[in-house]
Amino acid sequence: MKDIRNIVVLTGAGISAESGLATFRGPDGLWEGHRVEDVCTPEAFERDAALVQRFYDARRAALATAEPNAAHRALAKLDAAWPGELLIVTQNVDDLHERAGARRLLHMHGELKSAWCTGCGARRRWERALGDWPACPACGQPGLLRPDIVWFGEMPYGMERIEEAVAEADLFVSIGTSGAVYPAAGFVQSARHYGAETLELNLDPSAGSIFFDETRLGPASKLVPDWVEELLAQSTQS
Ligand code: APR
Repeated sequence: MKDIRNIVVLTGAGISAESGLATFRGPDGLWEGHRVEDVCTPEAFERDAALVQRFYDARRAALATAEPNAAHRALAKLDAAWPGELLIVTQNVDDLHERAGARRLLHMHGELKSAWCTGCGARRRWERALGDWPACPACGQPGLLRPDIVWFGEMPYGMERIEEAVAEADLFVSIGTSGAVYPAAGFVQSARHYGAETLELNLDPSAGSIFFDETRLGPASKLVPDWVEELLAQSTQS
Protein backbone atom coordinates (compact mmCIF):
# COMPACT_ATOMS: atom_id res chain seq x y z
CA MET A 1 0.00 0.00 0.00
CA LYS A 2 1.32 3.45 -0.89
CA ASP A 3 1.80 6.28 1.58
CA ILE A 4 -1.61 7.65 2.47
CA ARG A 5 -2.17 11.14 3.76
CA ASN A 6 -5.25 12.59 2.08
CA ILE A 7 -8.50 10.66 2.30
CA VAL A 8 -11.97 11.24 0.87
CA VAL A 9 -14.81 9.07 2.19
CA LEU A 10 -18.15 9.07 0.36
CA THR A 11 -21.16 7.70 2.23
CA GLY A 12 -24.69 6.83 1.11
CA ALA A 13 -27.93 5.51 2.54
CA GLY A 14 -26.42 2.06 3.26
CA ILE A 15 -24.35 3.43 6.17
CA SER A 16 -27.57 4.48 7.96
CA ALA A 17 -29.55 1.33 7.11
CA GLU A 18 -28.53 -0.41 10.34
CA SER A 19 -29.72 2.67 12.25
CA GLY A 20 -33.20 1.87 10.92
CA LEU A 21 -33.37 4.43 8.09
CA ALA A 22 -34.64 2.99 4.80
CA THR A 23 -32.37 3.09 1.74
CA PHE A 24 -33.70 4.47 -1.55
CA ARG A 25 -33.32 1.55 -3.91
CA GLY A 26 -33.76 -1.37 -1.54
CA PRO A 27 -36.93 -3.47 -1.16
CA ASP A 28 -38.58 -0.70 0.95
CA GLY A 29 -37.72 2.03 -1.52
CA LEU A 30 -41.35 3.00 -2.04
CA TRP A 31 -43.30 5.61 -0.13
CA GLU A 32 -47.13 5.79 -0.27
CA GLY A 33 -46.90 3.94 -3.59
CA HIS A 34 -44.49 6.48 -5.10
CA ARG A 35 -40.99 5.72 -6.20
CA VAL A 36 -38.85 7.81 -3.85
CA GLU A 37 -37.21 9.49 -6.83
CA ASP A 38 -40.64 10.81 -7.83
CA VAL A 39 -41.00 12.80 -4.62
CA CYS A 40 -37.43 14.14 -4.77
CA THR A 41 -37.72 16.57 -7.70
CA PRO A 42 -38.57 20.26 -8.07
CA GLU A 43 -41.32 19.16 -10.50
CA ALA A 44 -42.89 16.94 -7.81
CA PHE A 45 -42.88 19.92 -5.43
CA GLU A 46 -44.60 22.09 -8.07
CA ARG A 47 -47.15 19.36 -8.74
CA ASP A 48 -48.00 18.39 -5.17
CA ALA A 49 -46.05 20.28 -2.52
CA ALA A 50 -48.09 18.78 0.34
CA LEU A 51 -47.08 15.24 -0.72
CA VAL A 52 -43.39 16.18 -0.85
CA GLN A 53 -43.60 17.95 2.52
CA ARG A 54 -45.27 14.84 4.02
CA PHE A 55 -42.47 12.65 2.67
CA TYR A 56 -39.81 14.77 4.37
CA ASP A 57 -41.88 15.18 7.57
CA ALA A 58 -42.01 11.36 7.75
CA ARG A 59 -38.26 11.12 7.25
CA ARG A 60 -37.65 13.76 9.94
CA ALA A 61 -39.89 11.75 12.30
CA ALA A 62 -37.96 8.52 11.53
CA LEU A 63 -34.68 10.31 12.22
CA ALA A 64 -35.91 11.40 15.66
CA THR A 65 -35.66 7.80 16.90
CA ALA A 66 -32.56 6.74 14.94
CA GLU A 67 -29.11 6.54 16.54
CA PRO A 68 -25.67 6.46 14.92
CA ASN A 69 -24.35 2.92 14.46
CA ALA A 70 -20.85 1.42 14.67
CA ALA A 71 -19.99 2.58 11.14
CA HIS A 72 -20.78 6.25 11.91
CA ARG A 73 -18.81 5.96 15.15
CA ALA A 74 -15.81 4.44 13.39
CA LEU A 75 -15.70 7.31 10.87
CA ALA A 76 -15.92 9.82 13.73
CA LYS A 77 -12.97 8.04 15.35
CA LEU A 78 -11.03 8.28 12.08
CA ASP A 79 -11.93 11.97 11.84
CA ALA A 80 -10.57 12.63 15.34
CA ALA A 81 -7.42 10.52 14.91
CA TRP A 82 -6.35 11.00 11.29
CA PRO A 83 -3.35 13.35 11.08
CA GLY A 84 -3.68 14.06 7.36
CA GLU A 85 -6.46 15.60 5.31
CA LEU A 86 -9.85 13.94 5.52
CA LEU A 87 -13.19 14.86 4.00
CA ILE A 88 -16.32 12.81 4.66
CA VAL A 89 -18.74 13.60 1.86
CA THR A 90 -22.20 12.28 2.60
CA GLN A 91 -25.15 11.97 0.26
CA ASN A 92 -27.27 11.38 3.33
CA VAL A 93 -29.59 14.04 4.67
CA ASP A 94 -29.70 12.53 8.18
CA ASP A 95 -27.44 13.88 10.93
CA LEU A 96 -26.01 10.58 12.16
CA HIS A 97 -22.41 11.35 11.13
CA GLU A 98 -22.33 14.55 13.17
CA ARG A 99 -24.19 12.98 16.09
CA ALA A 100 -21.46 10.32 16.17
CA GLY A 101 -18.90 13.13 16.38
CA ALA A 102 -17.65 13.59 12.80
CA ARG A 103 -16.53 17.15 12.06
CA ARG A 104 -14.79 17.10 8.68
CA LEU A 105 -18.11 16.48 6.97
CA LEU A 106 -19.95 17.85 3.95
CA HIS A 107 -23.66 17.20 3.21
CA MET A 108 -23.69 17.33 -0.58
CA HIS A 109 -27.44 16.58 -0.85
CA GLY A 110 -28.54 18.93 1.95
CA GLU A 111 -29.95 18.18 5.39
CA LEU A 112 -33.31 17.09 6.77
CA LYS A 113 -32.88 19.44 9.71
CA SER A 114 -32.60 22.51 7.53
CA ALA A 115 -35.18 24.46 5.54
CA TRP A 116 -34.94 27.21 2.97
CA CYS A 117 -37.39 29.84 1.90
CA THR A 118 -38.23 29.93 -1.82
CA GLY A 119 -39.31 33.54 -1.27
CA CYS A 120 -36.30 35.20 0.36
CA GLY A 121 -33.69 32.43 0.02
CA ALA A 122 -32.87 32.24 3.78
CA ARG A 123 -31.63 28.84 5.00
CA ARG A 124 -32.06 27.86 8.62
CA ARG A 125 -31.94 24.96 11.00
CA TRP A 126 -35.39 23.37 11.08
CA GLU A 127 -36.47 20.35 13.16
CA ARG A 128 -40.29 20.57 13.04
CA ALA A 129 -42.72 19.46 10.35
CA LEU A 130 -42.92 21.65 7.24
CA GLY A 131 -46.27 20.22 6.14
CA ASP A 132 -48.15 22.63 8.42
CA TRP A 133 -46.79 25.48 6.24
CA PRO A 134 -45.12 27.64 8.89
CA ALA A 135 -44.15 31.20 8.01
CA CYS A 136 -40.52 31.86 7.10
CA PRO A 137 -38.79 33.19 10.24
CA ALA A 138 -36.70 35.56 8.09
CA CYS A 139 -39.29 37.20 5.78
CA GLY A 140 -42.53 36.20 7.53
CA GLN A 141 -44.19 34.83 4.39
CA PRO A 142 -46.25 31.67 4.93
CA GLY A 143 -46.15 28.58 2.69
CA LEU A 144 -42.76 29.13 1.08
CA LEU A 145 -40.43 27.00 3.21
CA ARG A 146 -39.14 23.83 1.54
CA PRO A 147 -36.76 21.12 2.74
CA ASP A 148 -33.10 22.09 2.28
CA ILE A 149 -32.55 19.00 0.17
CA VAL A 150 -30.85 18.78 -3.20
CA TRP A 151 -33.40 17.21 -5.54
CA PHE A 152 -32.84 15.51 -8.88
CA GLY A 153 -31.94 18.18 -11.40
CA GLU A 154 -30.48 20.53 -8.75
CA MET A 155 -26.82 21.30 -8.08
CA PRO A 156 -25.28 19.47 -5.08
CA TYR A 157 -23.64 21.55 -2.37
CA GLY A 158 -19.88 21.91 -2.04
CA MET A 159 -18.85 20.60 -5.46
CA GLU A 160 -15.79 22.80 -5.71
CA ARG A 161 -14.46 21.68 -2.33
CA ILE A 162 -15.24 18.03 -3.13
CA GLU A 163 -13.53 18.14 -6.52
CA GLU A 164 -10.41 19.65 -4.94
CA ALA A 165 -10.34 17.02 -2.19
CA VAL A 166 -10.85 14.18 -4.71
CA ALA A 167 -8.04 15.51 -6.89
CA GLU A 168 -5.70 15.57 -3.86
CA ALA A 169 -6.80 12.22 -2.42
CA ASP A 170 -4.40 9.31 -1.94
CA LEU A 171 -7.31 7.10 -0.94
CA PHE A 172 -10.99 7.27 -1.93
CA VAL A 173 -13.43 5.10 -0.01
CA SER A 174 -17.10 4.64 -0.89
CA ILE A 175 -19.46 3.27 1.77
CA GLY A 176 -23.09 2.15 1.42
CA THR A 177 -24.01 3.75 -1.87
CA SER A 178 -25.48 2.11 -4.98
CA GLY A 179 -23.51 4.34 -7.35
CA ALA A 180 -26.73 5.15 -9.23
CA VAL A 181 -26.73 8.93 -8.78
CA TYR A 182 -24.28 11.39 -10.32
CA PRO A 183 -22.17 13.38 -9.67
CA ALA A 184 -21.32 11.30 -6.55
CA ALA A 185 -21.22 8.09 -8.61
CA GLY A 186 -18.43 9.58 -10.71
CA PHE A 187 -16.09 10.53 -7.85
CA VAL A 188 -14.38 7.13 -7.95
CA GLN A 189 -13.38 7.62 -11.58
CA SER A 190 -12.02 11.13 -10.86
CA ALA A 191 -10.13 9.83 -7.84
CA ARG A 192 -8.56 7.06 -9.94
CA HIS A 193 -7.73 9.51 -12.67
CA TYR A 194 -5.78 11.61 -10.15
CA GLY A 195 -3.97 8.54 -8.83
CA ALA A 196 -5.87 7.59 -5.65
CA GLU A 197 -6.34 4.05 -4.41
CA THR A 198 -10.03 3.21 -4.35
CA LEU A 199 -11.94 1.01 -1.94
CA GLU A 200 -15.64 0.15 -1.80
CA LEU A 201 -17.42 -1.07 1.35
CA ASN A 202 -20.98 -2.10 0.55
CA LEU A 203 -23.58 -4.79 1.13
CA ASP A 204 -23.86 -5.56 -2.60
CA PRO A 205 -21.57 -4.67 -5.50
CA SER A 206 -22.56 -1.17 -6.68
CA ALA A 207 -23.09 0.06 -10.24
CA GLY A 208 -19.50 1.32 -10.23
CA SER A 209 -17.79 -1.68 -8.61
CA ILE A 210 -15.48 -2.23 -11.58
CA PHE A 211 -13.85 1.13 -10.95
CA PHE A 212 -12.64 0.22 -7.46
CA ASP A 213 -9.27 -1.38 -6.76
CA GLU A 214 -10.93 -3.37 -4.02
CA THR A 215 -14.52 -4.13 -2.99
CA ARG A 216 -15.40 -5.59 0.41
CA LEU A 217 -18.96 -6.85 0.75
CA GLY A 218 -20.89 -6.91 4.02
CA PRO A 219 -22.74 -4.70 6.49
CA ALA A 220 -21.23 -1.26 7.13
CA SER A 221 -21.36 -1.77 10.91
CA LYS A 222 -18.74 -4.52 10.51
CA LEU A 223 -16.72 -3.43 7.46
CA VAL A 224 -16.19 0.22 8.43
CA PRO A 225 -14.82 -0.33 11.98
CA ASP A 226 -12.53 -3.10 10.64
CA TRP A 227 -11.21 -0.83 7.88
CA VAL A 228 -10.69 2.15 10.23
CA GLU A 229 -8.74 0.00 12.72
CA GLU A 230 -6.62 -1.40 9.88
CA LEU A 231 -5.87 2.07 8.51
CA LEU A 232 -5.01 3.57 11.91
CA ALA A 233 -2.78 0.59 12.74
CA GLN A 234 -0.91 1.00 9.42
CA SER A 235 -0.48 4.74 9.93
CA THR A 236 1.07 4.30 13.38
CA GLN A 237 3.53 1.73 11.94
CA SER A 238 4.69 4.01 9.12
N1 APR B 1 -24.19 -1.83 4.96
C1 APR B 1 -23.58 -1.42 3.81
N2 APR B 1 -24.26 -1.15 2.68
C2 APR B 1 -25.60 -1.30 2.70
C3 APR B 1 -26.29 -1.71 3.85
C4 APR B 1 -25.54 -1.99 5.02
N3 APR B 1 -26.09 -2.39 6.15
N4 APR B 1 -27.62 -1.77 3.53
C5 APR B 1 -27.73 -1.41 2.25
N5 APR B 1 -26.52 -1.12 1.74
C6 APR B 1 -26.18 -0.68 0.38
C7 APR B 1 -27.05 -1.27 -0.72
O1 APR B 1 -26.49 -2.49 -1.17
C8 APR B 1 -27.00 -0.17 -1.78
O2 APR B 1 -25.92 -0.40 -2.69
O3 APR B 1 -26.39 0.71 0.34
C9 APR B 1 -26.71 1.11 -0.98
C10 APR B 1 -27.88 2.07 -0.90
O4 APR B 1 -28.16 2.57 -2.15
P1 APR B 1 -29.29 3.67 -2.40
O5 APR B 1 -30.55 3.29 -1.72
O6 APR B 1 -29.34 3.89 -3.88
O7 APR B 1 -28.73 4.98 -1.65
P2 APR B 1 -27.68 6.06 -2.16
O8 APR B 1 -26.65 5.44 -3.01
O9 APR B 1 -27.24 6.80 -0.95
O10 APR B 1 -28.60 7.01 -3.03
C11 APR B 1 -28.00 8.13 -3.63
O11 APR B 1 -30.12 8.90 -4.41
O12 APR B 1 -32.41 9.40 -4.22
C12 APR B 1 -31.12 9.86 -4.11
O13 APR B 1 -30.50 11.84 -3.07
C13 APR B 1 -30.78 10.49 -2.80
O14 APR B 1 -28.64 10.65 -1.70
C14 APR B 1 -29.51 9.76 -2.38
C15 APR B 1 -28.97 9.27 -3.70
